[in-house]
Amino acid sequence: MKILHDITTLRAWRARQTGIVFVPTMGNLHAGHLSLMQQAKQTQLPVLASIFVNPLQFGAGEDFSRYPRTLDADLTQLEQAGVDAVFVPEAHDVYPEPQTCFIELPDLAQQLCGEFRPGHFRGMATVVMKLLQMAQPTHAIFGKKDYQQLAIIRLMCQQFCLPVTIMAGETMRADDGLALSSRNQYLAPHERDKAPQLYAELNRIKNQLQSGNKHYTLLEQTALNNLAQSGWQTEYISIRDATLTRPKPDSAHLVILAAARIGNTRLIDNVEASLTTGPRIQ
Ligand code: PAF
Repeated sequence: MKILHDITTLRAWRARQTGIVFVPTMGNLHAGHLSLMQQAKQTQLPVLASIFVNPLQFGAGEDFSRYPRTLDADLTQLEQAGVDAVFVPEAHDVYPEPQTCFIELPDLAQQLCGEFRPGHFRGMATVVMKLLQMAQPTHAIFGKKDYQQLAIIRLMCQQFCLPVTIMAGETMRADDGLALSSRNQYLAPHERDKAPQLYAELNRIKNQLQSGNKHYTLLEQTALNNLAQSGWQTEYISIRDATLTRPKPDSAHLVILAAARIGNTRLIDNVEASLTTGPRIQ
């Protein structure tokens, strides 16, 4: 596996490939990331991963400084996963001067997580645009765990005519249903025990939707109440269609999204609900 430390070496490696599949990460890799690497391998294209904790997408008071950085273990895992190259830039490679050009996003970026993390999606979209320009992949994979992020990236790539196919990776879960996330390690043992409740509430809504219940607000409110009773501070629970707008009466594919805190740890999750027997959202 090639370790590419800067844009010059990345570009030189890229120039030797025809197509590549790119899996950007912030490191601290777990089985969720590794499943994205396996999906990338299945394309038969050379696989490029990146590890960069992007300061621009963290707000004041968020966990940028304590975000787990485990580069050596990450590199070992990527090598074992058969990744061909990994881009590990320093902040001054990505931001050689203060970033003054940003991706301006539509209203979707102010909703859901955007309402509670002002500037997060602007910083995320800006670094993803930069990474895509640096790596020039033909394909790139982003996990559905960050469903809103995936939707924003898809829209950005489409509207800026980027010649990249965006692929979605399924969310990996612990045996008890908790979505795998680097932030799970912030949970104290009693919080970890409680954490699967978020997924359970999303599934409860999904089952109701699939039984024909269309009382969206009531379903959301019931889950909010259940979580509050168990001591969660919920930011939002929202039933949306696949493009993250409010569902229309004939929407066949819905997604239920949530962000909630246990103690100081903020967790996000989502569950898709197909109301037909048609194909799943890819
Ligand atoms: O999902 C992440 O890990 C990050 O938001 C990403 C896409 C690597 C951009 O920093």
